[in-house]
Amino acid sequence: MAMKEKLEEIRQAAQKQLEAASDESSLEQLRVSLLGKKSELSQVLRGMGQLSADERPKIGALANDIRSSIESAIASRRAEIEKQLSAAKLAAERIDVTMPGTAHRRGSRHPLGQIEHEMAEIFRSMGFDIVDGPEVEYDYYNFQALNIPENHPARDTQDTFYITDNILLRSQTSGVQVHTMETTKPPIRVVAPGRVYRSDAVDATHSPCFHQMEGLVIDKDITMGDLRGILLLFAQKMFGESTRVRFRPHHFPFTEPSAELDISCFVCGGEGCRVCKGEGWIEILGCGMVHPNVLTMSGIDPKEYTGFAFGIGIERVAMIKYGIDDMRLCYENDVRFLREFA
Ligand code: DAH
Repeated sequence: MAMKEKLEEIRQAAQKQLEAASDESSLEQLRVSLLGKKSELSQVLRGMGQLSADERPKIGALANDIRSSIESAIASRRAEIEKQLSAAKLAAERIDVTMPGTAHRRGSRHPLGQIEHEMAEIFRSMGFDIVDGPEVEYDYYNFQALNIPENHPARDTQDTFYITDNILLRSQTSGVQVHTMETTKPPIRVVAPGRVYRSDAVDATHSPCFHQMEGLVIDKDITMGDLRGILLLFAQKMFGESTRVRFRPHHFPFTEPSAELDISCFVCGGEGCRVCKGEGWIEILGCGMVHPNVLTMSGIDPKEYTGFAFGIGIERVAMIKYGIDDMRLCYENDVRFLREFA
């Protein structure tokens, strides 16, 4: 029987084509060509009118059977394709939790920050408060109130960044002494760390912006012996227990007497070496007894109170302690340099 064989052929061909369909769109094309109006199956069904009344129901039933078996084959093929797709997607998105991670380096404090912190902690342990002052300053606080006369060379515009005739970028932290004395009654015991500015060309030992830490102590009966004791303790905590100190006479307008303080070389102990340039001593700061004029201008009676002051260059301490031979390293932020202090 020709029609029955034709139908069986259609069934088998459909089976093969469906097995070969590998994605959604080719499956959809197949569905149209197998079951659509122009499909072979539809043509067979249209030709059923010519069949005998006896054959018609049998062929009809067979054709319907084939139709529904193709439909369910399409549905199961579609389900398979979807399963493959999602399996492929999952495989592509799979995260291997056992893979080694990317290490993130921890940042660390800048060496200048470390030194400033260390210095501040040493003075805090001796009962000092840590205070702050403005970087943009009146001429009065930076110079006049510190007993620096009008024609003093330090006022030269070549050394100081002037903003107007009487406003400038502070060239030293010493002005914080004046602010403190104006607002605080003795006893006073403060250190003031911060940036200072000078119109200097950059080289291995100069920078237009650097850091100082100012110290000020005012009370009854303060002597130069107190100054020496405080600075000796500071030097020993900073550079080692066996450090010795010596005063060298010097001049600062705001102190009388004034001195520079040297520490015994912490590398050679005073014998003379490369670090102390054969001297055995290293200069670390300026200091002295606060000048009576400075006390008076800031409203403190020099007959009742005396005091001392000191100013330490933070870069200088860092360079000496860490053996940094070029100050520019402190500002360039080359991570290879910074990591040495992590
Ligand atoms: N201000 C001085 C400077 O920048 C450092 C200094 C010296 C500060 C003696 C002081 C001091 O308080 O008593 O060179």
